[in-house]
Amino acid sequence: MDNDEVYRILKNLLAEPRLGKLYSTLKTQYQGLRISHNWEHIMRVTLNAVVLGTEEGADLSLIIPAALLHDIGFITNPTEPKKHNEYGAAACLSYLTEWNESEQKKISDIILKHKGKYPGYTAYEPSSLEEKVLCDADQIDKFGWIGLLQVIKVYAEYGSLGYKNFDTLRGLAEGIEEAAHIELYTEAAKKRAEALREPSYHEVSKAVLAELSFYEGWQD
Ligand SMILES: [Fe+2]
Ligand SMILES: [Fe+2]
Repeated sequence: MDNDEVYRILKNLLAEPRLGKLYSTLKTQYQGLRISHNWEHIMRVTLNAVVLGTEEGADLSLIIPAALLHDIGFITNPTEPKKHNEYGAAACLSYLTEWNESEQKKISDIILKHKGKYPGYTAYEPSSLEEKVLCDADQIDKFGWIGLLQVIKVYAEYGSLGYKNFDTLRGLAEGIEEAAHIELYTEAAKKRAEALREPSYHEVSKAVLAELSFYEGWQD
């Protein structure tokens, strides 16, 4: 898919008044927020979702509102980032008053399951195609050079909140290694990941840890 086609599909979807309104509301709400899961991230995931959802033949009318809202839990409960999917699945409902109950439930479930699985976490695995597409669209933001910057930005933020040892360079390098083992669900995402296989997070992590060994050898 070329870029213009992706933009055109999203423009068409946002022409629906309730979705256009949701987009504007959230864009305004995200303004000025100094968090890694900011509007830039939301839009990368939303555009990824258009690509993957179209290629997979999934229902974009459910995926796109979910993409726009998927990280709202970081805003509603900023001190518990690890549970942002659970908080977001509840908080999304107040934005979706123009969607019917069945749509609300499906969008909420997509948000609940958007974290997928990674080493040490398997709760709320996506099952429907729409759940898998959004999960993958979010994970694709952890691939390639942009992904590397985003992973570092997110983990550094978590480090400042006291998570793991992400306040150290070793912790960040270990986090980068973890990101090398993300599992994707859809064929469209696997194809995208293949195009984003540089840089190798495993090699980056290994190289950082090798450089660090000199400094970590110091004993006082
Ligand atoms: Fe998230
Ligand atoms: Fe996200």
